[in-house]
Amino acid sequence: DWTTGNVIEEQVEAIRELVGDKRAICGLSGGVDSAVAAALVQKAIGSQLTCVYVDHGLMRKGETEQVEKDFVAATGVQLKVVDAEERFLTALKGVSDPEEKRKIIGREFIRVFEQAQAEIIADEGPAVEFLVQGTLYPDVVESGGGTGTANIKSHHNVGGLPEDLEFKLIEPLRKLFKDEVRMVGQELGLPEEIVQRQPFPGPGLGIRIVGEVTKERLDLLREADAIAREELTSAGLDRDIWQCPVVLLADVRSVGVQGDGRTYGHPIVLRPVSSEDAMTADWSRLPYDVLGRISTRITNEVRDVNRVVLDVTSKPPGTIEWE
Ligand code: XMP
Repeated sequence: DWTTGNVIEEQVEAIRELVGDKRAICGLSGGVDSAVAAALVQKAIGSQLTCVYVDHGLMRKGETEQVEKDFVAATGVQLKVVDAEERFLTALKGVSDPEEKRKIIGREFIRVFEQAQAEIIADEGPAVEFLVQGTLYPDVVESGGGTGTANIKSHHNVGGLPEDLEFKLIEPLRKLFKDEVRMVGQELGLPEEIVQRQPFPGPGLGIRIVGEVTKERLDLLREADAIAREELTSAGLDRDIWQCPVVLLADVRSVGVQGDGRTYGHPIVLRPVSSEDAMTADWSRLPYDVLGRISTRITNEVRDVNRVVLDVTSKPPGTIEWE
């Protein structure tokens, strides 16, 4: 019968046997799945696992610290953090088109990640034969895959690694649904902020700035997003909404008045949605007083923002993200 304790015990044993005295690597995204997968493998093989976290500078306030400090403190995992903010900002310079942004972020991410992997592989020690992935049961079903703990696939690589390198995959969450993964994470002692995290797109805030992505705009959006999250959390609404993208319309300005002067600032869009699986979504009917607090705080506390607007579009026709 199913208990999180059983799942952990079973997986730990299977992973130990599979890996033997070899090494494994795992990419952390800041999301629930990769964090729980890594924690489980860490419990099984300890220092034979190395995790890689690419900081692309497009994360929300506090998220990188959550991985660097809280996750490491909770698991004792060996972590290699690559600070690649400069590189991503340079690559994104002058780019406003959403698809173009996504392509650039994806491409740079793979390059940085594989460079880090190559460095770990080059370190002294046993061969790195395994790659840990946080694949869940719904992903397995979607791709028509079978069962089992691990299967062997070639891992496409773009640079930094030998052409013919193949990792054996360790996918300890292959039989689990999201809520079960959260329970396992909790049992493993991971921080609440990671275990209960709502979905967040890989390209991060890069696709939540309509217009060119710059450091200044990212900092501004990070502030606005942090305020929205803080107010939603303290109103106890985190479980009611699927996620709430906060979007900066950097190419739009509108006239406002603040203090004793006219302003000409940017709007921030709040996009709270409810959903079962992100395929369809409805806009969340948030309490007006919560929306009011978020609006007042953002316009008071975030420089250059003089207007907060609410997105009341379902999906379809709107997507959840703006880009
Ligand atoms: P859309 O905007 O297509 O988003 O309605 C559906 C869900 O997917 C998330 N999303 C992404 N997640 N990489 C990700 O890992 C991406 O490039 C990406 N784009 C969108 C989005 O936050 C929502 O939960």
